[in-house]
Amino acid sequence: MARAFTGERLVVASHNPGKVREIRELLAPFNADVISAGQLNLPEPDETEDTFIGNAKLKALAAAIASGLPAMSDDSGLAVSALDGAPGIYSARWAGPSKDFNLAMARIEKEMLGKSDRAAKFVCALALCWPDGHCEAFEGEVHGAVSFPPRGIKGFGYDPIFVPDGFNITFAEMEPAAKHAMSHRANAFAQLVAACFKKT
Ligand code: IMP
Repeated sequence: MARAFTGERLVVASHNPGKVREIRELLAPFNADVISAGQLNLPEPDETEDTFIGNAKLKALAAAIASGLPAMSDDSGLAVSALDGAPGIYSARWAGPSKDFNLAMARIEKEMLGKSDRAAKFVCALALCWPDGHCEAFEGEVHGAVSFPPRGIKGFGYDPIFVPDGFNITFAEMEPAAKHAMSHRANAFAQLVAACFKKT
């Protein structure tokens, strides 16, 4: 059986404001006082694992040990079929040191020139770790297609080029609540909550 989150303070082990905002919104119905790794000035560990789950655990564990509090992290990315799953775990790195996702989206568009398969999926691994080293981790996906040029100003990262299956608008054109209802993060989150959280 999974270990339950019974405390109040929970560190979100991310320096990405978009992710921290989404996780905070997803955690709203639960008794958790969310603080981000950025607010605590925790260092950002290098993502040295080769899977989403491996990197999620690495980040949550580092934050839990450094803060002495339970910590949750998200490792996620966009996997494009025609690019053999790239950028995948390198999704953040494709945006370069200035974290410019216009650059990353332009690179995908360029690498897809001449390829007709537009299928893609977002993957999200969530890990919840405690300072004693125990971790729970879950992975969710949402399937869709990439579409150019980028459209929409909501969301973050690769949202302007991702059209989920069954829709003709991108994640960045959708209301946040609609994205939260179907996203890879929502899917992983539902599994995490069912295993580790109780509604207050
Ligand atoms: P990392 O998990 O910190 O390595 O970063 C993953 C990267 O994948 C993020 O910086 C985003 O660019 C991208 N990504 C993950 N989830 C989403 C999403 O929901 N929308 C758009 N981009 C995402």
